[in-house]
Amino acid sequence: MSPEFDRRVLVIDDSPLVRGALLQKLEELGFLALAAADGQEGLSALGHFHPDVVLCDLDMPGMTGLEVVAAARERAPTTPVLILTVADASEFAVKAMREGAFGYLVKGVDDAVLRHELGSAIRHRQLLEHNRRLEEDNRRYRRDLERMVEEKTRELIKLRDRKAHAEKLSALATFVAGAAHELNNPLAAIISNLGWLEQVLGQGGAPDAATASEIRQALEETTQCAGRIGRIVEALQRYAHPAAASEECEVGMAIEELKILCRERVPANVSLSIEVDGAARNLEVGFPDLVLVLTNLVTNSVHAVESRPSPRISVKAWREGEWAKVEVVDNGCGIPREILSRVCDPFFTTKRPGHGTGMGLSLAQQASQAAGGELSIESELGVGTTVTISLPAEEEVAAAAIGSEMELRAGAPLC
Ligand SMILES: Nc1ncnc2c1ncn2[C@@H]1O[C@H](COP(=O)(O)OP(=O)(O)OP(=O)(O)O)[C@@H](O)[C@H]1O
Ligand SMILES: [Mg+2]
Repeated sequence: MSPEFDRRVLVIDDSPLVRGALLQKLEELGFLALAAADGQEGLSALGHFHPDVVLCDLDMPGMTGLEVVAAARERAPTTPVLILTVADASEFAVKAMREGAFGYLVKGVDDAVLRHELGSAIRHRQLLEHNRRLEEDNRRYRRDLERMVEEKTRELIKLRDRKAHAEKLSALATFVAGAAHELNNPLAAIISNLGWLEQVLGQGGAPDAATASEIRQALEETTQCAGRIGRIVEALQRYAHPAAASEECEVGMAIEELKILCRERVPANVSLSIEVDGAARNLEVGFPDLVLVLTNLVTNSVHAVESRPSPRISVKAWREGEWAKVEVVDNGCGIPREILSRVCDPFFTTKRPGHGTGMGLSLAQQASQAAGGELSIESELGVGTTVTISLPAEEEVAAAAIGSEMELRAGAPLC
């Protein structure tokens, strides 16, 4: 079977003689051929015959070959048109090729050349069609891919939102459970003491000396428990309503106050150094609780270095561009990696019941954020912990002159 079998050739020529001869020749060569007598008829055949190639006379009454080439390009862009010319009209044929014709053939061409030219035109069309299909596939894949990416992104966003919501609920549950637990312990002690007192006093008569001492002890314990409940409630209130960031605090003053407070809180065997860089001294930060927070951080460090050989704690404050930075470093037990992300959760504590509310770091973090800054923790188990607070700061204008004088004196460890 000829390779051209089923290939379709449309002949457009106004000469019945040429049409007849070409149809016969094309059929002999194994093509399916159809003839049209003018441009209009040829163009409508494009729509129903779907030729692989068009042979079109250049010089026709009505629509010229050039016009057919232009119209065919519009309607069937991948269908090649070969122009048929007489021997001395090759100049027009070249013009037609500029307009988009695939090539030209001189009328009366022998079979081998005709077959070769038709074959080239058909292969060219196949390539164009293949290319068009590839581009379509490409466009479809891109659309599918974009749709898949969009769907996956939507799913991920939903998952992330759901996870964030679940995390919030779980954090809230931990918060509430922690608060309830912390309040419950002293409350249970108060209820038990009050019950015992009621029982003792209900017996009537003056209590003996031993019972009187027990009553005093119970009252003292009850007062302590009530105080503890008060402190927890205060911490909860602070957590819910952090102090307004508009209240300012000077870094140098805060460090001076911290030094005084640390004298009571840091045992003598712990080496403590507190330094403030001269450039940080006169910085004002919108962090009214800075001293309180630093005292809490130092207390955490004191607990962490408790059973360590050569325990050391250092507090440093310095300026970094527009930021005031304060860090508390210790060579204590360090924080296990698996709980590092939870130590700032409200009520998270590893301390024995009654030794920590677990609110210290969460309040410190919340207050830092309320002041437009942040709190970060680096810790290595068995090596130590560094807690850094970064706060946006402004230099107090009036104090700037004094500050530069103080700068000269500052620098050496102050404690
Ligand atoms: N410097 C540190 N070294 C090792 N562990 C630390 C340090 N600071 C905090 N932690 C860990 O983080 C937990 C939470 O600290 P946080 O200050 O919030 O609460 P707390 O000290 O347990 O109780 P509170 O401060 O309310 O009395 C601590 O129980 C401890 O396990
Ligand atoms: Mg603490």
